[in-house]
Parts: sequence; C-alpha cells; structure tokens
Amino acid sequence: MALVPYNTEGALSALAKLHNPSATFHFAGHEVRLDQDWRRSGVAAVVWDAAIVLCMYLDLLGEVEVRGKSAIELGAGTGLVGIVAALLGAQVTITDREPALELLSTNVRGNVPAQIQHSVSVSELSWGSDLDRYPAGAYHLVLGADIVYLEETFPALLRTLDHLCSDATVVLLACKIRYERDSKFLDMLRKGFTVEEVHYDSERDIHVYRATKRTPRMDL
Ligand SMILES: C[S@@+](CC[C@H](N)C(=O)[O-])C[C@H]1O[C@@H](n2cnc3c(N)ncnc32)[C@H](O)[C@@H]1O
Repeated sequence: MALVPYNTEGALSALAKLHNPSATFHFAGHEVRLDQDWRRSGVAAVVWDAAIVLCMYLDLLGEVEVRGKSAIELGAGTGLVGIVAALLGAQVTITDREPALELLSTNVRGNVPAQIQHSVSVSELSWGSDLDRYPAGAYHLVLGADIVYLEETFPALLRTLDHLCSDATVVLLACKIRYERDSKFLDMLRKGFTVEEVHYDSERDIHVYRATKRTPRMDL
C-alpha cells in the first residue's frame, strides 16, 4: 500500500522533503538532525508530518507531563518523537521493525546527549509479535506518529496497545486520516479505550488522539 502525501497542493515539495538525505528540527531546546534514506528503507526512513506535530504537541503545548515518565514509541521510523521525548526528560524505548533499526539507532546516537543516552533504548517491536519482551502495562506514555495506515496491521497494533497499556497509560497517536479505513482503526480502538481528539494541526492536516484504556466493568 503506497503512502502518499494527502494533498496534491504542495505534494511536490512534500515529496522533495522525503527525498532529502537529512531533516533538521528544533525541539526541547535542541537541534535535532535526522538522517533519512527513502530509497533504501522507504516509509520508515523519512520524517512524516505526524511526527512533527506530535513533537510540537509534547514540547510546545505542554499538555502532557513527559519529564520523569516511562515512554515507548511504536513505529518510530527515524525516531524524531522518541528523541524529543528523551530530550524532554522521559525514559524512552524507541521501537520499529528490524529493518528500520540501523538508521533509527544512528539518529538516536547522534541526537541524544551522552549524559541522557542511558535513558533511551532502541529495540525491535513488530506489532503483535513477541510482546512478552515488553513489560505489560508498565508505561506512562505510548507514542505513535503516522502508524495507522495499514489495515492488515490494525488487529496486531491493537493487541500491542492492549499489552503495553494499563488504565493509567496515556496513548498519544498523531494521525493523518487519509482513507476511511484509518477512521475504522479509531472505532476499533474505542472498543477498549476512551479516545478523544486533543489537537488538530490544520496546516498539516494531522489529528492527535489521546486514548486511555477503559477498566473492565465489574459485574454487579
Ligand atoms: C509512515 S511511517 C511513520 C514513521 C514515524 N513514526 C514518523 O512519523 O516519521 C510508519 C512506521 O510504522 C512502522 N511499521 C509499519 N508496520 C509495522 C509493524 N507491523 N510493526 C512495527 N512497526 C511497523 C514502519 O516501519 C514505519 O516506521
């Protein structure tokens, strides 16, 4: 399934951005310079707008406490969100599928200052697989940018969220709703989680959703 910019307007400049060998951002008082490699690794190797918007939400809007929290990022790609969460003071596990990990590790090493490298790890997490490698319900924050786009992965992504979250975990998903099926994921998520839209970036057409796991109702 091809992942393409949503608007034809600006599509050319968006494509040009994806093909740049690097992308530079300023978050959490730091310059973050990420290597990109679209030709070699495709969607995992470029920074998507959803990641930028989620970083803006975490850093600039300050509505979620990040400092001192344990966080895990799913489908991290180049790692922007996880890196910014670490710069904001979280203990972060940054994950993706195995082919994405080399570039991801390079970006983490290059952008996380030596004194906080110990609070960041990069590891493989293919949704729905080997979930026991990750502690169940142990994270304060689960972060995901532009990870809702492949319908066949929705059940595995939901199982992953269910495993990682307790009812105290806050899930933040930054999404570009490209197709009707993307909304279908949110409907599936609502079966076990309370989901609300907490931010919308109209310039980039990115929605940020906050989800928390519902505690099962006690039978009376
Ligand atoms: C559109 S990219 C978004 C990358 C990054 N979060 C960003 O916004 O820049 C989607 C990411 O999801 C990851 N992904 C897709 N299917 C996955 C799966 N089954 N398990 C784990 N990661 C997956 C891809 O490797 C890729 O890094």
